Amino acid sequence: MPTLIDGKKISEEIKSEIAARVQEIVSEGVKKPHLAAILVGNDGASQTYVGAKVKACEQVGFDSTLVRLEETVSEEELLKVVEDINQNPEIDGLIVQLPLPKHISVEKVTNKIKPEKDVDGFTPANVGRMTLGWPAYVAATPYGIVELLKRYQIETSGKHCVVIGRSHIVGSPMSILMARNEYPGNCTVTLTHSRTKNLPEIAKTADILIVALGKPEFVTADMVKEGAVVIDVGIHRIDDASKKSGFRLIGDVKFDEVSQKASAITPVPGGVGPMTIASLLYNTLLAAEGKVY
Ligand code: GUN
Repeated sequence: MPTLIDGKKISEEIKSEIAARVQEIVSEGVKKPHLAAILVGNDGASQTYVGAKVKACEQVGFDSTLVRLEETVSEEELLKVVEDINQNPEIDGLIVQLPLPKHISVEKVTNKIKPEKDVDGFTPANVGRMTLGWPAYVAATPYGIVELLKRYQIETSGKHCVVIGRSHIVGSPMSILMARNEYPGNCTVTLTHSRTKNLPEIAKTADILIVALGKPEFVTADMVKEGAVVIDVGIHRIDDASKKSGFRLIGDVKFDEVSQKASAITPVPGGVGPMTIASLLYNTLLAAEGKVY
C-alpha cells in the first residue's frame, strides 16, 4: 500500500501551530490577526468555501470580517470596498472570493488589492515575487502542496515532476515552485495542459505527478509510473444515492487503481483540500506579523 498523504491531519497540525502563535501574540498585548473576505453573489460553492474560511479563522483565534455584496454590485462599488479594507489598519489580510460576476473585471479587482494584504497570493506583485523566489504570499493550494511534500519528506531533487493543468491558481505556480532551487523543488518540470500531445505517455514518466485539470478521474493507472508520488488537486461532487448526503467526492485521479501503483498519494477528500485553508491562515499570520513585506 502507498503512503496516504493525510492533508486533513497535517492541516490540523498547522492550525494548532497557528493557534499557539496567536496565543503568544495576544499575550504580548498585540492584536489578533484579522482576515477579511469579500463574497459577491450567491454561488453555492463560493458560500461554502468562504464559510469554511471564516470558521477556520475562529478555530485558530483570528478575527474575521465577511463582506457580502449583491450579485448586481457595480465594479466601482466593489473596488471601493477593497480600497477601504486596504486602508483599514485593523485588517491584515484580504481575499476576494472567485469567481466574480461577469460584469466585474477580475484583473481590476485583483490589482486593487494591496500586495501587503494579498494573502491569496493572486496579485501581480506576489506572483512576481514568488516567481523570483523572493518572500511572497504564495497561493494557498500550491503552498499547501509544498507543505505536504515537506512534512512527508518527499525527495524532490532531480526528480521529474509532471504538472497537469496550467491554471493561474494551481498549475502554473506549482510548476514554478517545483523547479525552484530549494526544497521542495529542484525538479525537472513538465507543465502539461489540454493541448499537450501524448499526455498519458508524459505523465507516465513522472516521479511526482501533480494533477490539477479539473476532470473527474482523468488520471488512470496506465498513466502512472510504478512508485510515483501522486498529488490530486481535483474535487468533484458525484451523485450517489447510497450516501446519506446523496453525493460523494472524487478527484482528478482514479484513486482505487492509481493507489495500487503510487508510492504515496493524496486522497480526495482529505488530501490537498484541507491544506488550502491552512495555507490561507498561515499567510494571514505572516501578514499580521509583517513577515513578507
Ligand atoms: N476560488 C477558488 N479558489 C479560490 C481561492 O483560493 N481564493 C479565492 N479568493 N477564490 C477562490
